[in-house]
Order: sequence, then structure tokens, then C-alpha cells
Amino acid sequence: MSREVVLETRDIWKRFGGIIALRNINIKVFKGELLGIIGPNGSGKTTLFNIITGFLKPDKGRIILSGEDVTGFSPHEMVKRGVVRTFQLVKPFMGMNVLDNIRVALYMRHGLMSRVSEREIIGEAREILKMIGLSHREDVSADSLSHGEKKKLEIGRALALKPKILLLDEPTGGLTTAEIDDIIRLIKDIHENGTTVVVVEHNMRVIMNLSERLIALNSGVVIAEGDPKDVVSNPEVVKAYLGERFAVKSR
Ligand SMILES: Nc1ncnc2c1ncn2[C@@H]1O[C@H](COP(=O)(O)OP(=O)(O)O)[C@@H](O)[C@H]1O
Ligand SMILES: [Mg+2]
Repeated sequence: MSREVVLETRDIWKRFGGIIALRNINIKVFKGELLGIIGPNGSGKTTLFNIITGFLKPDKGRIILSGEDVTGFSPHEMVKRGVVRTFQLVKPFMGMNVLDNIRVALYMRHGLMSRVSEREIIGEAREILKMIGLSHREDVSADSLSHGEKKKLEIGRALALKPKILLLDEPTGGLTTAEIDDIIRLIKDIHENGTTVVVVEHNMRVIMNLSERLIALNSGVVIAEGDPKDVVSNPEVVKAYLGERFAVKSR
């Protein structure tokens, strides 16, 4: 059975001054899969997300979404097509409570002039809060949430945009073990509800727990892809990660 490709990058290149952040990236995302992307710091993971979601334009190459060439489309145009991402560094709307953070995202999707009633919006927002496990925090200001709760809220705001493809950039960065387990469960729920998910992660335990398929990047190049167990035991991947550990230790 051949699987449907929902997103494809063709020969993507991106340079920042003297640094080539991505070189000749060709990846496919299949409908309904949970794809992991790993790679040491600076390997180009976030840049790849930025290019796929329209925050950056590639120097060369194409982005194909369900057969449509969407290269150079704005983040807004990508969201309209169901491509939604979260950021490595969370930035909820501070000063606004948890429920309103989700409501704002819902209004972005429905449009301020839409016929959807306030009641429906609040109902939808509460469904999302239930899914992300923040129902009991709806009146709390986003500022006073724990880091783990902020990460969940960030995912909730992405869900409000009704993603077909959800791209998560280090969703467990900086979290405790218990918080990480919560996020893993949430990502699995989202995936089981039918959303295609792409997760960039640094944490090996998380990626092994989540991914059905794994792509490893190093210095802007795909160095391995396939079954997660094979990818993490691939000598080049091991070397890239050991190199990073050594670099951290010797700093
Ligand atoms: N806006 C930018 N300006 C200049 N250099 C950048 C920019 N974004 C990323 N880079 C560089 O591109 C490389 C890849 O970065 P990034 O995609 O953030 O890696 P990762 O997410 O894998 O840690 C790094 O060398 C980084 O310093
Ligand atoms: Mg990054």
C-alpha cells in the first residue's frame, strides 16, 4: 500500500551569511504519521520548520503541500491550509487568561466577523482546555502558569487553528520528567485523533517514545532516516550526538 504524501520538501537550501543551515533537504511527511526529527543543536531543525511554515523563504527548493506548490507562502496562508506550528520558546499572550489565549486563536481561525457565536467559541475553547488538561486553570493569567503549563497552552493555541499537520518544535524543552510524560500523552492523543504530527526533539527518550519514523539532521544535512531504532543506532547519528556532548563538556 502506498501512503499519501501530505508535505514534501524538494532540494531545500538555506544560508545565513557564511553558514549553510540547510543543504539539499528532501523529506516527505505521510498522512496521519507521527514523524520525529532529531539533530544536535544548530543542525537546522528550527530553520526547516521556519521554511515549511512560511516564516522564512528558502534560497532554493520547493515546498509541496498535498500537491500544491506553497513555496514562499506566508505563515497565515500556511495556517489557512492547515499547517500549524509551535515555537521552541513559548510565547503565550501574557496578561491574558488561559481561556482567552485559546479564544484569540479561535477568532483567528473563524475570523472576527464570522457567524460563530461567542457561546460556541467558548464551548470550543473549553473542549481544547480539556484536551490539554488545563480546564482547572481557565481563569488564571498565562503569566502565572508553570513552564509545563505554558507549553501545553502553546499546543492548545495551535489546536485552535485546526491543524492538518502540526509541527512541534521541542515541545518538552526545559520540562521536568513528569511534565514531559504529560506532553508525550497529549501529543499521542492529538495524533490518535487523526492529526499528522511532526516533532522536533532533542530528548532521545521522548523521540523514541513518540516517533513512528525518524529523520536525523546534522549540519543542515539529512544523515539518516527510517525506523527510529535504526536511526539512533546509525554510526553517523551516534557520532553527531557524541560530538555535541563532548563540545558541551569542553566549554
Ligand atoms: N535568523 C538566523 N540568522 C543567522 N543564523 C541563523 C538564524 N537562524 C538560524 N541560524 C543558524 O543556522 C543554524 C541552524 O540553526 P537552527 O535551525 O536554529 O538549529 P536547531 O533548531 O537544530 O538547533 C545554526 O548555525 C544557527 O546559528
Ligand atoms: Mg531549534
